[in-house]
Amino acid sequence: MSNHEHHENTAHKPVKRSGMSRRQFLSYTLGGAGAFMAAGMSLPMIRFAVDPILKKKAGGTWIKVVEENKITNDPQEFKFNIHQVDGWYVSDPELSAWISKDSSGNFFALSPVCKHLGCTISWNTEKNNEYVCPCHNAHYTKDGKNLTVAPKPLDEYELKIDKGWVYLGPIKANTRV
Ligand code: FES
Repeated sequence: MSNHEHHENTAHKPVKRSGMSRRQFLSYTLGGAGAFMAAGMSLPMIRFAVDPILKKKAGGTWIKVVEENKITNDPQEFKFNIHQVDGWYVSDPELSAWISKDSSGNFFALSPVCKHLGCTISWNTEKNNEYVCPCHNAHYTKDGKNLTVAPKPLDEYELKIDKGWVYLGPIKANTRV
């Protein structure tokens, strides 16, 4: 067997060598596509990494996000930072929530993280009063109910109103659908 390998490598058969390099080229190309896909995945992955931290650290912590009178029936996106201390590592990651009022005037805040693979949803990008995920076209109602593609409803933040301000707490499973 080793004799045979030796033969292939001694340039007695240049055709074989060109076959090798073509295979090599193919594997570089596939490697490139893999790296590109890995880069596309990294943002959702970071979110998955942040979510459990948020659940753990934000217990009992409320973040002042927006004045009550800014909230409308139409969902709007609000960004806020959470202060996170994990051993020696301190960070202030930015999160966002889609906040709106329901028909009875109750406020609620939904997580922008698509329940399919974790991309970021937006409200009404298709002018049909639904949340849409640009990655694989998941659709959700205003309450976050999953209509297509995604297996579960959008998560919800704990929410409270205090002295005219909306405060958000930890993320929980959707309680509205
Ligand atoms: S990640 Fe949102 S549809 Fe796939």
